[in-house]
Formats: sequence, structure tokens, C-alpha cells
Amino acid sequence: MINVVILGTGNVAKHLFDAFMAQKGVKVVQVYGRNEKGLSVFGQGTPTTSDISAIANADIYILAISDDAIAKVSTLLDLQQGLVVHTSGSIPMKALPKKYSRGVFYPLQSFTYGRKVDFKEIPICIEAETEADYELLGRLASSLSDQVVIMNSKQRKALHLAAVMANNFSNHMYHLAHEFCDQNGVSFKLLHPLIQETANKIQDVTPYDAQTGPARRNDKGTLKKQRSRLKSKNQKRLYKLLSKSIAKTYGKKL
Ligand SMILES: NC(=O)c1ccc[n+]([C@@H]2O[C@H](COP(=O)([O-])OP(=O)(O)OC[C@H]3O[C@@H](n4cnc5c(N)ncnc54)[C@H](OP(=O)(O)O)[C@@H]3O)[C@@H](O)[C@H]2O)c1
Repeated sequence: MINVVILGTGNVAKHLFDAFMAQKGVKVVQVYGRNEKGLSVFGQGTPTTSDISAIANADIYILAISDDAIAKVSTLLDLQQGLVVHTSGSIPMKALPKKYSRGVFYPLQSFTYGRKVDFKEIPICIEAETEADYELLGRLASSLSDQVVIMNSKQRKALHLAAVMANNFSNHMYHLAHEFCDQNGVSFKLLHPLIQETANKIQDVTPYDAQTGPARRNDKGTLKKQRSRLKSKNQKRLYKLLSKSIAKTYGKKL
């Protein structure tokens, strides 16, 4: 049995809590949150505390808290034993205090409160300092996921940045497209199959090969007309920037 304390009450903390609760070999012995309100959703008989000096003994302490708080909160811990890990893609393992066994448990997925995910499919990137810690963290990660990957802080940082480009930026484009559809009285839902097919396609061919559209074809007339239809300065600027980037990728100049 691996005993775990989860620190944090946000998106990742709640998803990990629910996932661990469904595992036989893992026990969440406590959840820490700095305010009582956040702790109220962690029921099912698990003890909770808002007192950082009253953390229970465990094998692994998972800091699922905001990136900016990881270093500070981890120094407030007063632990006798165990492995302290955080869940961030962009914070180095060494941001955690040297006096503890330290590590990282980074699930590569976008978590949204109230939305179920299948942990089996989510890559979990782990980092530790000793063989024994890798073994323990690996066992915890494997209890949730079929894809456990050992990765150092530099590689994880790069992966996180790639995830920002692939996920956050494309999602922002969905938002702008949604807004544009609303402004023009057409349903964004009609784009769902297109968005889905693009996501499916890049599992079989490279994104380079999958690219279509006027910028790849260097269709200057269409590009000019489309840009002039956009009302906001921001949309026009983004359209130009992205079209230029696409054209340049395929050796063309706009
Ligand atoms: N969201 C994702 O999709 C995702 C995916 C992979 C990894 N991560 C990483 O997982 C970590 C948590 O992300 P999240 O999305 O769960 O964030 P979140 O939903 O915003 O939750 C952040 C948590 O940190 C707590 N917190 C912030 N400052 C604190 C402090 N000074 N002392 C104590 N607690 C503090 C917050 O408490 P209050 O509620 O009291 O403010 C809250 O419980 C981050 O390192 C993030 O990079 C996130």
C-alpha cells in the first residue's frame, strides 16, 4: 500500500484524489488545503487539514499547487520521512527543499474541474533522485497510467512548452473561431468534425504533412479577402502572423 498526502485543492488535486481513491494499492491519508472551503469537496472519509504543520505521515507528498507557490509551501513542510513531489511541467525538481527526498509527478493532460479523464491514457512524467524513489514513484504512477515516462527537468520544461503551443494556443484559436461564428450567425458546432479530424490525423501523419488551407497554398487573393473580413485588430494581427508562419514553413513568402 502506498500512502499519499495531497497538498492542494484545485484541478489536479481533485483529479488525482478521485483517481487514487479508485486504486486498491494507494491510500490518500490526508488532503491539505489552505482554506476550508476548498477542502469541502474531498469527502469519502479522507481526513483533511488547513494546518500545514499538521501534515500526516505518508510515503509520498504530492504538491498539486500553483507553480509560484511550490518553492515557498514546500519550505513550510516539516516532515519526518517520505518523498516530496510536485505536479508541475515547468518547475524544476530542485525547486523543492534539498533536505527531502524529492521528485516530480507530472501528468501531461489539461484538467478541468468536473470533467472526467481516463488516467490510463495520460502520460505521467516522473523524476526522482534515487533508484528507490524512482521505484516508488513509478509504482504510484503505474497504478494510474499505462504511460509512465522518466524525464529530467529540462526535458519536462520543453515538453510543457510544446504542450502550451499544441494545446493552449490551438484552444485559443478555437475560442476566436467560436466568437467569429457567433458574430456571423453560424454554428461553431459545424466545425467539430473538422477539429476532430485534424486531431485524429496527426496521429498518423506529421502536422507538417497534415497542413492545408490558403496560407499553405499561398493563395494570396483569399488571404487578403479573409483578413479584411476580420473586425478586430487582434484577429487581423494573428491571422497575418500565423499565415506568414505557415507560408514560410512551406518555403513561400507572403
Ligand atoms: N491544470 C492542468 O491542466 C495541469 C496539468 C498538469 C500539471 N498541472 C500543474 O499542477 C499544479 C496545480 O495546478 P491546478 O491546475 O490544479 O491549479 P489550480 O486549480 O489553480 O489549484 C491551485 C491550488 O494551489 C493552491 N495554492 C496556491 N497558492 C498557494 C499557497 N501559497 N499556499 C497553499 N496553497 C496554494 C490553491 O489554493 P486556493 O484554492 O486556496 O487558492 C489551489 O488549491 C500546477 O503546478 C500546475 O502547473 C496542471
